[in-house]
Amino acid sequence: MTLRLYHSPASPFVRKVMVVLTETDQLADVTLVPAAGTPLDPGTMPLARNPLGKIPCLERDDGPSLYDSRVICRYLDQRAGGGLYPPAPRLWETLTLEATADGILDAAVLLRYELAVRPGPARSAEWAEAQWQKVARALDALEARWMPHLAGPLDIGQIAVACALGYLDFRHDGRHWRNGRPALAAWNETFAARPSMLATRPPA
Ligand code: BEZ
Repeated sequence: MTLRLYHSPASPFVRKVMVVLTETDQLADVTLVPAAGTPLDPGTMPLARNPLGKIPCLERDDGPSLYDSRVICRYLDQRAGGGLYPPAPRLWETLTLEATADGILDAAVLLRYELAVRPGPARSAEWAEAQWQKVARALDALEARWMPHLAGPLDIGQIAVACALGYLDFRHDGRHWRNGRPALAAWNETFAARPSMLATRPPA
């Protein structure tokens, strides 16, 4: 079966999917379709496939297109028997960790759009700072409470966290997320060296 993934190398949500494809050995089954746009201009986003105009979006020839990254990652893991979703009760921890990482990304991407896309006079420094505070609180929670889980067997929660941290380095490196979070920084150092992470680094 042919799969088509609407893709941008800068999107951290697409990166999650690409890491899952790599870790579950399914890269050869997917054709990448370049897609680009912003909240102000959908550009080449697959609007007919995802009315929200967002990527990643996965087109299949035996069913409707899938989105968002959480749905696609779970579908791909089930397709390959990848084992990235442990049985309950650990599953609930894993999914909450993924939601925490995706929440970091939601806030970090909104912050990026606020600074890079919203016209200057409409920008709000207060709103931007509130987005960063969401990121900072979630990072503090990872450092304080999630390190035992991050040290466990590979799962989608870890992949999502690594993609979120990679995006902070990519777009918000001036915020120095590692400061005060030594355990998370050390974990990331090791995880970022996985071949699946090295192969999906965002563009320089
Ligand atoms: C970015 O360039 O920061 C970006 C690209 C696609 C989706 C989200 C963010």
